[in-house]
Amino acid sequence: MGYSISDYQDTDEIYRQLSALMKRPALGVSRDAMAAYVRAFDEKCSKSKALITEAKQFIPGGVQHNLAFNYPFPLVVDRAEGPYLYDIDGNRYIDFLQAGGPTILGSNPPAVRREVVKLLERCGPSTGLFHEFELTLAKEIRRHMPSVEMFRMLGSGTESVMAAIRVARLATGKAKIVKMGGAYHGWSDQMVYSLKIPGTRRFEAHGIPRSCTRHTCEARPNDIASLERVLAANRLRGGTAAVILEPLGPESGTRPVAEGYNREARRLCDKYGALLIFDEVVTAFRVGLGGAQGYFDVRPDLTVFGKIVAGGFPGAGGIGGRADLISRLAAGIESGKRRAYCGGTLAATPVSAAAGYFTIQEIERTGACEAAGRAGDRLTEGLQRLIARRGLPYVAYSQGSICHLETAGAMFIELNLLRIRKVLKEIKQRKLMMEEFGAAFMAEGIVTLAGSRLYTSAADTDAVIDDALARFDRVLANVEGQ
Ligand SMILES: Cc1ncc(COP(=O)(O)O)c(C=O)c1O
Repeated sequence: MGYSISDYQDTDEIYRQLSALMKRPALGVSRDAMAAYVRAFDEKCSKSKALITEAKQFIPGGVQHNLAFNYPFPLVVDRAEGPYLYDIDGNRYIDFLQAGGPTILGSNPPAVRREVVKLLERCGPSTGLFHEFELTLAKEIRRHMPSVEMFRMLGSGTESVMAAIRVARLATGKAKIVKMGGAYHGWSDQMVYSLKIPGTRRFEAHGIPRSCTRHTCEARPNDIASLERVLAANRLRGGTAAVILEPLGPESGTRPVAEGYNREARRLCDKYGALLIFDEVVTAFRVGLGGAQGYFDVRPDLTVFGKIVAGGFPGAGGIGGRADLISRLAAGIESGKRRAYCGGTLAATPVSAAAGYFTIQEIERTGACEAAGRAGDRLTEGLQRLIARRGLPYVAYSQGSICHLETAGAMFIELNLLRIRKVLKEIKQRKLMMEEFGAAFMAEGIVTLAGSRLYTSAADTDAVIDDALARFDRVLANVEGQ
């Protein structure tokens, strides 16, 4: 089976480069260049600006997704096709956001769209009753991922993480959940804990009672000794129900893990009687059809799905794994049996199941994961060359079609509670710099995820990537001191 990762990264080398980046003062786009980019937005994107100004009166902040919140103002998208997005002013952008990850085939792929339209014409998007595509999708996932003996489709990654944790607690009778510091597993009460920067615990948990995160613990990313320390400590406090991991490392491998990390985590879960949950919301069907678990050859007890599982269509979530565990989510379970309660009016609709099934089929038919991975390699190698040629401290690295370009290093600030004011100021400064890079890339015709993450797709030909590299270089030429 093919995977998108050609060569596993040298994790130590990446951390060495990131640490060198963080030791230097932040280096951003020059003030003059940034002012020119902002002016260009006003001129070229006036329809977007007017619409967002109006939307702010009706929608908080004007947009509904964190991903859509772009500096100096969000763009309004009118058309999406293959590697490109087009805004309502008619400007074209190379799309490395990919809706946050789902569109591995490129935007709006005809082969999937045709099948979804056929389905819509026959039965509409939802009926509340069973549709054959639900079975077709579950069988298709099991064919590629043997650990997924059974599968239940849900409405989002967030819901699926909630379900996985509930099942783990019910099955083990334990309460503690261990995550990696900095990782994002959706926005349920218990998971808004140590987001982005390890050690920040409840920094973002506004409106969430302390009791909700009482059993959430964190281990340092890519640090197996830290994971063992947490598991050992939890043993004295009632035990760990599950360790939940993104197998490439927190934030889609922004903090990458060493190649052997997942295998060691599996061993520790067995030693301490905890379940291993892989959050493959991003990696399932992007790293390969076998997921990151296939690539690393490590079998989790439970896998959480999202994004590509519905091919970019709504209702993108699911949980799969050992039959004895997933059975606890059975709808209409016999009374007297203890069930992990879950639901969702529009979960597992015919349209999400069909879109997921035909997307996976098309990925397999076209070798899309490998193609997207080749595009990611070309992009990353190109960025590394540009950075080296200009003598900049920035770091470009990738895991197949998931690429990272760290300029501001906003997530790599070390938390120091004794200097908390200084740290908070630095977080604010670096976050602003990251937003400015995102704006500069956008002004040059490239859409990124928060100015630092770039997903490639099978639609990214060599010509698209080379065009993108020329655009990135124009931004790098505008960095202070160049
Ligand atoms: C690793 C990971 N887990 C969970 C989620 C939550 O998924 P959703 O946005 O579908 O709720 C995300 C979303 O970006 C994610 O990246």
